Amino acid sequence: MYRSHTCGELRIENVQESVILAGWVQTIRKFGSITFIDLRDRYGVTQLLFGEELNKQLDENSLGREYVLQIKGIVTERSNKNKNIATGDIEITVNEFTILNKSAIPPFTISDETDGGDDVRMKYRYLDLRRNAVKKNLELRYAVSRSTRNYLHENNFMDIETPFLIKSTPEGARDFVVPSRMNPGQFYALPQSPQTFKQLLMVSGYDRYYQIVKCFRDEDLRADRQPEFTQIDCEMSFVEQEDILNMFEGLVKRIFKDVKNIDYTDTVERMTWEDAMWNFGNDKPDIRFGMQLLNIKKPSSVYITKNDQPELVSGADFKVFDEAETIIGIAVPGCCEYSRKQTDEITEWVKRPQIGMKGLVFIKCNLDGTFKSSVDKFYSEEKLKAIATAANAKAGDLILILAGAEERTRKASSELRLEMGKRLGYRKEDEFKLLWVMDFPLFEYAEEENRWVARHHPFTSPKPSDIDTMINNSPVITDASKYLEHPYANIKANAYDMVLNGNEIGGGSIRIFQRPLQEKMFEALGMDEAEQQHKFGFLLGAFEYGAPPHGGLAFGFDRLCAIIGGSESIRDFIAFPKNNSGRDVMLDAPSTIDAKQFDELQIKLDLK
Ligand code: AMO
Repeated sequence: MYRSHTCGELRIENVQESVILAGWVQTIRKFGSITFIDLRDRYGVTQLLFGEELNKQLDENSLGREYVLQIKGIVTERSNKNKNIATGDIEITVNEFTILNKSAIPPFTISDETDGGDDVRMKYRYLDLRRNAVKKNLELRYAVSRSTRNYLHENNFMDIETPFLIKSTPEGARDFVVPSRMNPGQFYALPQSPQTFKQLLMVSGYDRYYQIVKCFRDEDLRADRQPEFTQIDCEMSFVEQEDILNMFEGLVKRIFKDVKNIDYTDTVERMTWEDAMWNFGNDKPDIRFGMQLLNIKKPSSVYITKNDQPELVSGADFKVFDEAETIIGIAVPGCCEYSRKQTDEITEWVKRPQIGMKGLVFIKCNLDGTFKSSVDKFYSEEKLKAIATAANAKAGDLILILAGAEERTRKASSELRLEMGKRLGYRKEDEFKLLWVMDFPLFEYAEEENRWVARHHPFTSPKPSDIDTMINNSPVITDASKYLEHPYANIKANAYDMVLNGNEIGGGSIRIFQRPLQEKMFEALGMDEAEQQHKFGFLLGAFEYGAPPHGGLAFGFDRLCAIIGGSESIRDFIAFPKNNSGRDVMLDAPSTIDAKQFDELQIKLDLK
């Protein structure tokens, strides 16, 4: 028997018991003729006491950090108790020990506060995983997975595996490809998601499918993106949007309960895509706080149809505003007393290349009811007051105004709102706010190719009320400058994204399930019949054999875990993640392959 107990298990009740423990040496502390060792395993840390006799043997054996040790001893009450650890009331008086394995000196300290930088910890990830902080994250991930499986099982979902070596399914990213030895010159693609398979399973009658599954996308990486990541992928038949929203709100609420013991009793808010873009500047608003945007001016060439208020700033001869395509203001509560230094600092913040604005205008709504701004030269107090009223600003607020090109300015406003929200403490890690964003445009206009592309993916159906518009109109755009007037620009998707604290944690849609509409969709995306057949013949074929109405969604599992765990980076919740260049620094992958492997694949490398 290697051990009778784990290192996290023994308590005062066990005093006098003979035990055997095995684990890793965390710390060694020598006090004259006795030595204390903290022994660690997955379950915790237990203090070992080596008396005089054994201490001599220890000296002869020169023990080091991370050695694997087995000890036999008696549980004794500690005179100096440690309230910070669960086993802090006891220690083991060791009678006998065996070194099961030695360890080289670890390249960084394996403790909560480590001295190891990111790169070295990733290179030695197997050591990093011994640390409590990382272990906690993996435990949380496992808890989310267990809760998910229980909920879906209780609701009749069936876990069905789908293949990894497939034909490319376009989801907007680049595919990772795998050459086939048995079919020289041909390649598999790794799935960006199991989208078409889950739809085929609906055709097969498995009306509630799920899978916690790896997906592969060759895209530029960020803190919330990995080239291989995990989805909770789900699909249901004979459902409408409402059924899906209810089912999956239920799943996330269950996860909150099981994993965080949070009763999420609030109704999950819903917001149209247009409102999200208009009021928050992006399609995944953080609704833990208000500070909605004041849209002073917007160009006519965007999908947003709401009315702006350019008269608030016009006629004052202020060039920056007169020439700007878009002007957006934000009323920041209680900041009217910001010093010059503080406003300068925010101005520098919006000028950073990541935000890319040229400057920032501000209006102080003083507590005495007066206004002071950086553009006093151009705007009377009357005008400033009108802007403040439109921005819903109160006395004491600071209004920040950005002006520039539409896309950049809207994005910058969204970022600035989040940044100010963070600085003011409105984005609390332990507060969770769910939101459905819906009614996305079905299509986006791709200027370079003068055609439509799918905003979500080509299997998403239009809103039932827009189906006729789609079928009865040609997708061809005859006048590129007037694409917004094309009937397709107004078609809304029967799609929904779930947002948690400003992060898109999932997305899905009601699918097209009839061949003619699917063909029309492919045609709208610029695919002729031959291409449709080549790429999606299998799906169109399946739709000939009684495809049921169906829909579903997929959650980003890593993202969900990271947000619930209070982290910005999904890497912290993945056992063996890739770095920002898509490399596994531990394996040193990707890497070259042997000449023999190229021969077998009949591939010759000719790098450009
Ligand atoms: P979508 O592409 O929106 O939908 O992906 C679903 C969710 O997966 C997460 N996600 C990612 N997480 C980490 N790294 C990435 N590179 C990454 N890309 C996406 C996001 C996202 O919300 N087949 C459809 C779903 C459906 O229609 O049912 C799909 O994959 O949290």
